[in-house]
Amino acid sequence: MRFHHGAIAAASFFLTQSLVSAAPLEKRGSLGPVFEISTLGGLTFKISQVPNKKFYGARKGRGAMAIARAYSKYGAAIPDDLLSYIQKLLEELGLLQNPGSGNDTAASPQGEVAATPQMFDSEYLCPVQIGTPPQTLNLDFDTGSSDLWVFSSETPSNQVGGQTIYNIQQSSTAKILAGASWDISYGDGSSSGGNVYTDTVSIGGITVEQQAVESATNVSLAFTQRPDTDGLVGLAFSKLNTVRPTQQLTFFDNAMRDLALPLFTANLKASEPGNYNFGFIDPTEFNGQITYIPVNTSSGFWQFTSEGFKVGNSSTMVAATHQAIADTGTTLLLVPDDIAAAYYAQIPGAVNAAQTAGGYVFPCSVTLPSYTAMIGSYPAVIPGKFINFAPVDGNTFADATTCFGGIQAVPAGFPFAIYGDVFLKSQFVVFQGGETQLGLAPKPI
Ligand SMILES: *[C@@H]1O[C@H](CO)[C@@H](O)[C@H](O)[C@H]1NC(C)=O
Ligand SMILES: *[C@@H]1O[C@H](CO)[C@@H](O)[C@H](O)[C@H]1NC(C)=O
Ligand SMILES: *[C@@H]1O[C@H](CO)[C@@H](O)[C@H](O)[C@H]1NC(C)=O
Ligand SMILES: *[C@@H]1O[C@H](CO)[C@@H](O)[C@H](O)[C@H]1NC(C)=O
Repeated sequence: MRFHHGAIAAASFFLTQSLVSAAPLEKRGSLGPVFEISTLGGLTFKISQVPNKKFYGARKGRGAMAIARAYSKYGAAIPDDLLSYIQKLLEELGLLQNPGSGNDTAASPQGEVAATPQMFDSEYLCPVQIGTPPQTLNLDFDTGSSDLWVFSSETPSNQVGGQTIYNIQQSSTAKILAGASWDISYGDGSSSGGNVYTDTVSIGGITVEQQAVESATNVSLAFTQRPDTDGLVGLAFSKLNTVRPTQQLTFFDNAMRDLALPLFTANLKASEPGNYNFGFIDPTEFNGQITYIPVNTSSGFWQFTSEGFKVGNSSTMVAATHQAIADTGTTLLLVPDDIAAAYYAQIPGAVNAAQTAGGYVFPCSVTLPSYTAMIGSYPAVIPGKFINFAPVDGNTFADATTCFGGIQAVPAGFPFAIYGDVFLKSQFVVFQGGETQLGLAPKPI
C-alpha cells in the first residue's frame, strides 16, 4: 500500500520537531477503575451533538463511500476497483456535478452535494463557538487528527457548499498567527489548507483564548460536498498538528489544565444525538465499571492493543493481537482482513464484494451475530444490528436484498486497525489526557 502525502506522512514530518508544550498539568489523582465526579473545583462541561441539518446522503453506495473516506483520510490509496465503483455510483446519482450553493431543501439535488454522503451515523457534529462575538459552527470532533480547521471568510466561495463560515473580520479577538500555515492532504488527492489565526474558542462553555483556529483557503471537493460539516476539531495528540513552522496545541490540550479532570468522554449513539463531556464522567452514561487500558501515544493517535475477538455467543476468543486506534472521525470498524473474513465467514451468504459494493456485503435478511473485541480483559460487545451498516441495492433496509457491513478490512499494510463509530457507539469511552489511557464501559443501547 502507498502513503501519499497523507495525514500521517504530513504529521510524521513534525514528529522530529519539538513541540510547543502545554503549561504543566496540575497533578491529579489517578482515576482508578471507577468513575469519579469532580470535586476539584475545576470546570466541567457537556455538549450535545446536533443532528445533521442537511442530511440527504446518497443512499446507495454509502458503505463504499464511508470506506473510501476512511481510506482517503489516512492517506491510503483507494483500491482502483473501489474507486471505479464509486465513480460509477456518483455518475449514476448525478453527484459528479457542481456541489451547489447551500440549498437547504431536502429534496434538492444540490443538497445531494454530498459526494461523500452525509449518511446517518457517518459523523457526529457538535456546536462550537468561535470569536467575539461568538460565531457558532458545527464541527466534526475527530480523535483521529489534531487540527481545528474551519470554513471561513477566506475560503473561496466556489468551495463553500452550504457550510457556515467563520467570519474572521467580524471577530474582534481574531489575530493572524504571522507566517503560519497548515495543510493536510490525503491519498485520493483531497486536501485542505490555509492560514492560522488565534481566537477565542468555546465548547460547551469552556473557553480557550488564543486557540489556533486554522482557516481554510483551499478545501477539496470532498469537504465542499459535506454541507453540514463546517470544519473539524482534532482531538488526537498535538504532535499530529500540521501547522508550520510552529505546531499548535489541540483544543483539548489547551483546555485540559482548566478541566476538573484531564479527560473527555464520548457517548456516541446510533441514529440519535449522543454527547461528548469534557472534564467529568457522567455515571448515568454507562453500566458497571470502566476498564482502563494503556494508550501508546508514539504515533499521535489514541492507540491501543486488541488481543482478539469473539463472534456471537461463542465463548472462545480467537487470538488475533493487533494495534488499533479509537477514531471518532471514521465511520466504520476497520480491522485486519483476516478478522473481517473470519467474522463474515459466520454469516451465510456474506461475500467480500470489493468490485461491486466496495467491501463485505451480506443478505439483508440475515440476523448478524455480535462482534466482541477483546481489549485487555475487557470484552467490548458490538451488537449485530450495528454491523448492518447500510443497504446496497435499495433505498432502505426494507427494499434492499444486499446490505453493507459495518466491519470492513483496513487497507493492507496499514499499521493499525481503525476503531471508528461502529465500534465507539457501542461503548462509553473515556479519553484521558495527562497519564494517557482509554476507558471503556458498556452502556445502555
Ligand atoms: C432548492 O431546491 C428546491 C428543490 O429542488 C428548488 O425548488 C428550489 O428552487 C431551490 N432553491 C434555490 C435557492 O436554489
Ligand atoms: C488547492 O488545492 C488543490 C488540490 O490540492 C491544488 O491543486 C491547488 O493548487 C490549491 N490551490 C491553492 C490556491 O492553493
Ligand atoms: C507503540 O507504537 C509504536 C508504533 O505503532 C510501536 O513501534 C511501539 O513498539 C509501541 N510501543 C509499545 C510499548 O507497544
Ligand atoms: C445467543 O444467546 C442469546 C441469549 O442467551 C440467545 O437468545 C441467542 O439465540 C443466541 N444466539 C445464537 C446465535 O446462538
